[in-house]
Amino acid sequence: MKILDGKKTSNDIKEELAIEVVKLLSSGGKRPHLAAILVGNDGASETYISAKVKACDKVGFASTLVRFNDDVSQDILLSEIDKINKNTDIDGLIVQLPLPKHIDEMRVTEAIDPTKDVDGFHPANIGKMALNLPTYLPATPAGILELLKRYKVETAGKHCVVVGRSHIVGSPISILMSRNNNPGNCTVTLTHSRTQNLHEITQTADILIVALGKANFITADMVKKGVCIIDVGITRVKSDYTKSGWKLIGDVAFKQVKDKCSFITPVPGGVGPMTIAMLLKNTLKSTKK
Ligand code: GUN
Repeated sequence: MKILDGKKTSNDIKEELAIEVVKLLSSGGKRPHLAAILVGNDGASETYISAKVKACDKVGFASTLVRFNDDVSQDILLSEIDKINKNTDIDGLIVQLPLPKHIDEMRVTEAIDPTKDVDGFHPANIGKMALNLPTYLPATPAGILELLKRYKVETAGKHCVVVGRSHIVGSPISILMSRNNNPGNCTVTLTHSRTQNLHEITQTADILIVALGKANFITADMVKKGVCIIDVGITRVKSDYTKSGWKLIGDVAFKQVKDKCSFITPVPGGVGPMTIAMLLKNTLKSTKK
């Protein structure tokens, strides 16, 4: 069993990006600049956003964090997005999800200039992704592909089972794993809450990608020997044993499943840090354009 070490791989990518920033600046280019909008003070979103801002710092990017209370109107949010769209110093814009119920997430996503949509969530960019055209790939699926590539996990002709059909992970990764690319060329089964006989399907997976948000959902009896598991789930649970008072648990019961795997991502330290590295990579791509 080999660990797909997202922490180390993301640090490698950040070092590569830092070198590229130095090169870009010394050749007269501009410093990459990522803007992030955070609405409300959801604990998990605060953690993700502060990790994104810190990562910008680490690689030499500028960052701007715009915060709103959770009762902000949709119009005010849309006018901030419009302002950032027009700001030529800002290369990338993300709006941290989820948003409060009174705000239409799709309306907000569509308001972001597709050329600054470094999350790759805009319908125009999702369309390009599906057609295998150059675009920003959504950061979490892109991070999964990068891990598979750097650890040379064979994907062509394999059966890839995806659990969860979210717009952010399950749906795009199922498209990406089926594209005629490397990584890719899988036979993909996308499963969700209405899927029948999930156990039987996951047992046939060569590559199992789980993005459900249910702690320890995948157990040893649900997978076959030699499977490669990508665990995207991050559930925060209270803990008396950590400094923060929280600990993170994946969708896969790691301890009981790991010995059946050829490869597995840990939680934390797997897909999570890769998401941030790929967001930075997309931002640099936008700057270079
Ligand atoms: N919420 C959970 N994951 C993400 C992400 O990758 N981007 C944004 N904007 N919000 C998220």
